[in-house]
Amino acid sequence: MMGKQIHLNGFVQNSPSPHSTGLWKHEKNHSRYHNRLSYWVDVAQTLEKGKFDAVFIADVLGTYSVYQNSYKPAVKNAVQIPAHDPLLPISAMALATKHIGFAVTISTTYAQPYALARQLSTLDHLTEGRIGWNIVTSYLESEAINLGLKSRLPHDLRYERADEFLDVVYKLWEHSWEDDAVTLDIAQDAFADPDKVHEINHEGAFFSVPGPHIVEPSPQRTPVLFQAGASPKGKRFAAKHAEAVFTKHHSLDALKIYSNDIRTLAKEYGRNPDDIKIFPLVLPIVGSTEEEAIAKYEELKSHVSYEGTLALLSGHTGIDFSTYNPDDYIVDMETQAMQGNLDLYGKDPNKKWTLREAVLNHGLGNGTVKFIGTPEQIADKLEQWATEGDVDGFNIAFAYSPGTFREFVDYVVPELQKRGIYRKEYEAGTLRENLFGKGHVYLPDNHHAKKLSLAVK
Ligand SMILES: Cc1cc2nc3c(=O)[nH]c(=O)nc-3n(C[C@H](O)[C@H](O)[C@H](O)COP(=O)(O)O)c2cc1C
Repeated sequence: MMGKQIHLNGFVQNSPSPHSTGLWKHEKNHSRYHNRLSYWVDVAQTLEKGKFDAVFIADVLGTYSVYQNSYKPAVKNAVQIPAHDPLLPISAMALATKHIGFAVTISTTYAQPYALARQLSTLDHLTEGRIGWNIVTSYLESEAINLGLKSRLPHDLRYERADEFLDVVYKLWEHSWEDDAVTLDIAQDAFADPDKVHEINHEGAFFSVPGPHIVEPSPQRTPVLFQAGASPKGKRFAAKHAEAVFTKHHSLDALKIYSNDIRTLAKEYGRNPDDIKIFPLVLPIVGSTEEEAIAKYEELKSHVSYEGTLALLSGHTGIDFSTYNPDDYIVDMETQAMQGNLDLYGKDPNKKWTLREAVLNHGLGNGTVKFIGTPEQIADKLEQWATEGDVDGFNIAFAYSPGTFREFVDYVVPELQKRGIYRKEYEAGTLRENLFGKGHVYLPDNHHAKKLSLAVK
C-alpha cells in the first residue's frame, strides 16, 4: 500500500535573510541577491526539480521596530529589511518553470479587495493557474502607521475586516463573470456578452464595491487560499476560508492539538476535515552522517545575530524584549501582534523558555522545529509528523537559499520518493490540482465563496 502522500512548499521572502537572522553573512546564502531575477529563477527551478507544490513568498509592509522602539537594530541586522515587493518576481519564475505554484502574501488590512482581485486574477492568467494567496492580517504597528491608519487595528477587528474582504473578492472572482461571458463573436462584433458580466453591489461595514470585476475569469478563478491563523479567531477564519494552512511548532504534541482544532472547526463550516491541507514549517539540516548534520547546525548558529533576533522576536510577538533580562521566562500573555508566535514560547506544553533560549531558537528558521540528520533520519521525522500530526505536508524553511532547498531536493526528496510517500511527477497543471488532485481546478461547492449571491440593484 502506498503511504500518505506528502506535499511541500518552499518558504521564502523578498529580503536578504528573512527567516534566519544574520545568515545574510553565510557564504552559501544567495538570498542576498533577492534583488535579481536570476536568484528567483534559481529558487523556483530548484524547488520544481524537487516537485514542490509552491514557492511560498512571505511578506511584511513595515519595519521590525518594536525592539528598543526603533527600526535601527532591524536595519543593521537585515531583519526583513530590505523588504522588496513579493508579487513582482513571480512572472519571471513562472516563465522559467512549468508546474510549480506561487503562494504570495498580501494583507487584507492594507490592500483594497477590488485591486487585489485584479492583481491575482492577472497573475493567475499569466501563470496559467498557478497562483495561491497567503491571506494575512498583518501584525506590525509600523505597517499601520505608514499605510493610512493612526495605529494597528485590534487583532480581532483585523480578522473581521479580512472576513468581509474575502466576501468581496469571492464575489468578483466567482460570481461577476459567467463562464461563457467571453464570446469572441465576430459576427456580432462582440468580445463579450455584457449581460453575462455582473456588478457585485457589495455594501458592508468595511467596503463598498459595486464591481464588476475588470479581469475575465482566470484558470482557477479564485487563487488557492492559504492562511496561517493560530489564535482562536485566526483558526476559525482559517477553517471557514483556507484551503491550506501554514503553522509553526516545536513539538509534535502542539501540532496535534492544532491540526485537530482546524479539522474539527472545518466541519462547523460545512467542510470536510481534509478539505484543508496543513503545512507545518520545518527547517531541515541534512548531512551524510548525523554528526555532520549536527556540526552543520552548530556552524549555522554561529552566524545568527542575537540582537537581530531580539528585533525579530519583538516584532513577531509585539513585546519589546529590550526591557527583559535574558534569563527571564517568557510567560503566557495576550498580544495584539502574533498570538501564535508568543504561544510558541509562552504556552509550550513541554518546556518553559527563557528569553535567551527563545532568541537562540528563533534565529534559525523563524523559531520553527529543525529536523537535523541524514536524509533517512529527516524522512523518518517527516513521515512521523505527517502521520501522527495528521498533516498533509511541510513548508520548508531555509538557512541559506537556494542551498538548503538544493540539499533537501538532492538528498531527502529521493528518499521520500523511494518510500512511496512523495510524487515523482506533477499530476496536473494548476496549483489547486497539484494539491487536491487532477480535476480540482476550482473551489469546491461546499466552500463559503460558492454560496454567496450578488445583490441586484
Ligand atoms: C509559516 C508562517 C508564515 C507566515 N507568513 C506571514 C507573512 O508573510 N506575513 C504576515 O504578515 N504574516 C505571516 N504569518 C502570520 C500569520 O498570517 C498570522 O498572523 C499568524 O500566524 C498569527 O495568527 P493569529 O494572530 O491568529 O495568532 C505567517 C505565519 C506562519 C505560521
